This record gives sequence, structure tokens and C-alpha cells, in this order.
Amino acid sequence: MQTATISFDKFNQLQDDACHQRIRTARARLGNEVVLLCHHYQRADVYQYADLTGDSLKLSRLAANTDSRLIVFCGVHFMAEVADIMSKPDQIAVLPDLAAGCSMADMANLAKVERCWRELGEVIEVDQVVTPVTYINSAADLKAFCGEHGGIVCTSSNAGTIATWAFARREKILFFPDQHLGRWTGFKMGIPLDEMVVWDPDLELGGLSPQQIRAARLLLWKGHCSVHQMFQPAHILRFRNQHPDGLVISHPECSFEVCRQSDFVGSTEHIVRTIKDAAANTRWLVGTELNLVNRLAEEVRHEGKIVQFMAPTVCMCSTMQRIDPQHLAWTLENLADGTVVNQIRVPEHERELARLALDRMLDVS
Ligand code: 13P
Ligand code: SF4
Repeated sequence: MQTATISFDKFNQLQDDACHQRIRTARARLGNEVVLLCHHYQRADVYQYADLTGDSLKLSRLAANTDSRLIVFCGVHFMAEVADIMSKPDQIAVLPDLAAGCSMADMANLAKVERCWRELGEVIEVDQVVTPVTYINSAADLKAFCGEHGGIVCTSSNAGTIATWAFARREKILFFPDQHLGRWTGFKMGIPLDEMVVWDPDLELGGLSPQQIRAARLLLWKGHCSVHQMFQPAHILRFRNQHPDGLVISHPECSFEVCRQSDFVGSTEHIVRTIKDAAANTRWLVGTELNLVNRLAEEVRHEGKIVQFMAPTVCMCSTMQRIDPQHLAWTLENLADGTVVNQIRVPEHERELARLALDRMLDVS
């Protein structure tokens, strides 16, 4: 039986100890009805409750395969949307704080992408020559746009495979919203840098000439991650000077120069795996979010591995950080009382086409 929603005000001022007690009690009441999916960037005081963890690709597969009725997603908004799209109709995806968005995902929206498509259509036969590819860090309606236009979704761990799929169908890719992942993917495929151009959605024709558009193979949306743009080639140089035997690993959302100067580039799951599988007593500089790096440093310390954060300043995913013990306790207690709060529900007309683009990705990768 559904009861009245418990207001968040009661939890906002709650001390952490009390929150943790209430999280444990509510979870025990919910049992197998609930599953907690956590992204690698989730803060430690919430991550400790994860049933399942992973990068975006792994989490999208996990969401498709769980049988729990309630999926509490400790991540950001687009991840919870993917969980809703991939899960069965009777399952419910919940995001403990609706303000946990992704600033990169917000750099593209449907109106701007549709305008881009129209403007490209004035220069080239866009439907015949361009495959739209959206990074999973995007709203559901952009995934639906890709579904409708013969396009596909990619993540940081399968972007190369997905780009190969896309180029096998049409000669160009429109890649949004992360220019850095797009450029790195193209570079790894051997596409010359001058055949990758940046589409600025705030300028007419993306700030490009018709000639530039005709010559381009990859059209890269002008978007980026505010966390990963903090890492600089100078940080790598300083590390290499101090530790000539050290190894550098970065996420492909970092700038092109940071990726090029790294020994390894890959998704969060790839970063975790690579360092865990590395030889004992190795030293690592890591270019990705701080919560992941701190956790990993702790986990491999006993093997003599030293894991250092790339930037001298704190770079956290401040939006994912919003999912704190207070929001988790509030969410779980409401769910245990039979009240669904913060459900993420993708509208039916978007869900079908977004699912098509996601299924294409899962089939290919
Ligand atoms: P992963 O797919 O590597 O987990 O990356 C998601 C993300 O948002 C990184 O900033
Ligand atoms: Fe989005 Fe950047 Fe946070 Fe990843 S780290 S979820 S890209 S804002």
C-alpha cells in the first residue's frame, strides 16, 4: 500500500551516522526488490552500498539484465534514463537526486542537433552520407534521434567499434556531444586531424564553410567534460620528469594532447582493470575523476602500486557528487514505505527509438 511521501527536509540535516543506519534498515526491508547500480565516480560513502558497479557500458548491460523491481541508480541522469530504457516495463528506475545531471550531456539538445541536421542537409545529402553517433552521455531524445536516423549510441569503451560500424554504412559521422572522445576515436582509426572538424552549435552552419563540411569525415560537436578538461599535458610532463618509469593512463574525455601523451587511454572500467592487472610496485598517473582514483589507490596499495591523480586541483564530478547518503536514505526509506520518488521515466515515443540505437550498440560491441 502506498503511503504519503516522506519529505527530503527531514533528511537534509541528518548526520551521516544516522543516514547510514537508515540506509541499512531500509535496504533490509526492501531485500531483493531493490538493486543499487553505482558508477565508478560515485563518492565512497555511497559506493559502499553498491550491488553492482561499472562504466557506462557495463551498467547499461546490468540494467538490462537485473530482475529487481526497483533500480536505484547512483550515477547521473542519462545513466538512469538508460536503465529505464533497457529495463522491463514493470521495473522502475530511480535517481536519488534529480539534480545529478551531466554538464557534458547538456551541451547538446534536440533542437540544436535537429538544426545541425537541417543545415548539413543544405550542403550534403545528409541522410545518405552522415551517420549520427551519440555518446551515451546524452539525453534520451538524442539517442532517439540517432535511432530514427540510422544512427547509434557509443560509450567510451566501444567508440572505435561503433565508429567502424557507422563508417561501413555512410561516409561521414556526426559525433555528439563530446568532441574529445570523437577526435581520439577518429585519430585511433587513422583519420587525419584535418578531416575532423568542430561543429559549433551556436554558429550558423556550425561555423564551417560548405567546403569544410564536404571534405570532413568526422563532424565533432563542440562539447566537453568540465572535469576532464582540467587535466593538462604539463601534468604528464612533470610526472614523467619525476618518475621516468611511471605509467600514465587517461580517460578519452581528456583533451587530445593529454590522450596522445598517455601510455593508455580507456573507459573507467578499462582504467580500473589495467591498474589492477598491472605488475606489483608500478606507479601510475591517472587522468579521470577523483573518487575513482582515490578508491583505486587504496585498493592496490597493498601490492606496492602507487596511484596518483593527474591534476594538482580537486576535479570531481560535482553533479554525481550530489547523490549523498542523505538522498540515498530518503530514497530507500520512501521505496520501503511503498512510495516511488524521483522515478526516471523516458516518454514512450522516445523510448522505442532510443532503445533501437542502444540495441544497435549492444549488438555491435
Ligand atoms: P565511462 O563510460 O568510462 O564510465 O565514462 C562515463 C563518464 O561520464 C566519464 O566521465
Ligand atoms: Fe558528465 Fe563529466 Fe561527470 Fe562524466 S565526469 S558524468 S562527462 S560531467
